Amino acid sequence: MKTAFVTGANRGLGLEFVTQLIKENFLVIAGCRNPESAHNLLTLLPPEDIIRIDVGDSGSIDQAARIIEEKLPSIDWLINNAGLGYDNDGSLATVSADSMIESFTVNALGPLMIVKALCPLLKSYSLVANISSKMGSVEDNGSGAYYSYRTSKAALNMISKNLSLELLAQQIIVLNMHPGWVITDMGGKNAPLTPEESIRGMIGVFKKAILADSGKFLDYNGQVIPW
Ligand SMILES: NC(=O)c1ccc[n+]([C@@H]2O[C@H](COP(=O)([O-])OP(=O)(O)OC[C@H]3O[C@@H](n4cnc5c(N)ncnc54)[C@H](OP(=O)(O)O)[C@@H]3O)[C@@H](O)[C@H]2O)c1
Repeated sequence: MKTAFVTGANRGLGLEFVTQLIKENFLVIAGCRNPESAHNLLTLLPPEDIIRIDVGDSGSIDQAARIIEEKLPSIDWLINNAGLGYDNDGSLATVSADSMIESFTVNALGPLMIVKALCPLLKSYSLVANISSKMGSVEDNGSGAYYSYRTSKAALNMISKNLSLELLAQQIIVLNMHPGWVITDMGGKNAPLTPEESIRGMIGVFKKAILADSGKFLDYNGQVIPW
């Protein structure tokens, strides 16, 4: 049975990842900040497979890694999905150092520290999927704003590329993903994609991924996104 660990699994895209991975017969460990109030997750998984992780807190990451090591011999798919966005930092007048630092800590540093902590469980052909965003693309940025979100995802893009190079010798595949614009708390109600469509697309991309794809920035359909 293949195994997966998903962060930010209590709602939005993370919850849909868990839903579909269970249907794909994965043994899923779901990470979230407050397992006791993760009611939707608790309808999908037993409480012991839902573990506490705040991806902005390195102590919490290390604690979660120790629990996962006790549960799983290895991880086939490590999905760094948790993320946050501020919409109040759209201009020089409103951007704050705090929002920049928190976004970097959660959106960029979190995935890096999770890969570091869980590296002993990654093996040949394990997949690390970092859920980034097209908003982190410098080339695609035609409208500006969202200083903290854009810069933290751009940092994650570089982290994904670096990881792909460092982990190549161990034959670990690292993908940097844009899920599309999706209806969630973050994406809002006007987004054109449902979580079901986005995750179905991304799981299809993950299944087809080969070592030559490692380090690519792809959307949910497998199309290459410019850096
Ligand atoms: N929706 C879109 O259109 C879209 C587009 C591009 C990229 N993305 C990316 O896709 C990923 C999932 O987004 P979403 O749309 O599902 O967002 P969402 O509905 O806002 O859910 C965000 C998830 O991340 C978790 N999270 C936030 N900070 C965390 C922390 N410090 N530690 C642990 N978990 C934390 C949240 O947990 P709590 O419930 O505890 O807050 C929640 O589970 C994010 O990385 C986002 O940047 C989304």
